[in-house]
Amino acid sequence: MTPATSLFTPVEADLRILADNLKQLVGNRHPILYAAADHLFGAGGKRIRPAIVLLISRATMLEQDITPRHRRLAEITEMIHTASLVHDDVVDESNMRRGVPTVHSMFGNRIAVLAGDFLFAQSSWYLANLNNLDVVKLLSEVIMDLASGEIQQGLNRFDTTLSTENYLEKSYYKTASLIANSSKAAGLLSEVSPETAEDLYNYGRHLGLAFQIVDDILDFTSSTDTLGKPVGSDLISGNLTAPVLFALKEKPSLGVLIEREFAQEGDLEQALELIQDSQGINQARELAAHHAKSAAEHISILENSESRQTLIELTDYVLSRLY
Ligand code: IPE
Ligand code: IPE
Ligand code: MG
Ligand code: MG
Repeated sequence: MTPATSLFTPVEADLRILADNLKQLVGNRHPILYAAADHLFGAGGKRIRPAIVLLISRATMLEQDITPRHRRLAEITEMIHTASLVHDDVVDESNMRRGVPTVHSMFGNRIAVLAGDFLFAQSSWYLANLNNLDVVKLLSEVIMDLASGEIQQGLNRFDTTLSTENYLEKSYYKTASLIANSSKAAGLLSEVSPETAEDLYNYGRHLGLAFQIVDDILDFTSSTDTLGKPVGSDLISGNLTAPVLFALKEKPSLGVLIEREFAQEGDLEQALELIQDSQGINQARELAAHHAKSAAEHISILENSESRQTLIELTDYVLSRLY
């Protein structure tokens, strides 16, 4: 059980159905791709994105039950997320995910790239079958955004002139876009007003940004065991995240170490010390808290319900991962 699970009581039964369906949805047309995808689905993960879709579905369908299309949207959202992780781990050369070896470390890079592509393609097919053009548009933009985010991150490695705005833009593409657009799509399936749809989008956008900033802080402060994936790798690979960008303003010598890509012995250790010794992690935490608060404000427009309450609590949960 992940710590998030206890929060998800209103959609616990829905998430169980989702877990069963996800495996079937991948299909077994290509046994090796199936094995690769199934490997990650089986390992689970926190299921935050489908939980949000289901909670928003319930919070916007107070008089009726949620529809099969709401459930399918939650499944598609988790599929897209999982596909992006398979590719992200190839790009990051990361060997652990969800507490198990990554797809590429088990099956090789070629299979991992194909398995990720296959999951993206599969999710597009299920998406089209929802027969809702607005929802198709929202989620296909997400797939473009995910690739843009990875490309931006790749191009900006070790670039100490990166601004906080650049960083937030990349984080929107990589993480917040999926949460924002799937939140809005859940609302559209419930036929909410255009104003409510915008609030749902902004809830997901701010929550997603807070979530990525927290993930970036945890890369400095947590342990590999706790997260089920290797920590401390962002800085080594030149991915300059919020704590580093803030620390750079305070410690100019950190820039020198980064620009020479930690070429000299002890560079990395010295850089980590400079960051720990700065206000970088605190300032990143404040930035995450700011976005979590904005998310809570946007979701508060919904009529009160147990699901809405959980969506608000989720904004605290995201920050509580730091403690
Ligand atoms: C990992 O997402 C990628 C980021 C956006 C930081 P999660 O932390 O939600 O990963 P799982 O799904 O629980 O494995
Ligand atoms: C989020 O970024 C990954 C995607 C949204 C594809 P990270 O690179 O920070 O994710 P982790 O840390 O590998 O989970
Ligand atoms: Mg990564
Ligand atoms: Mg990370």
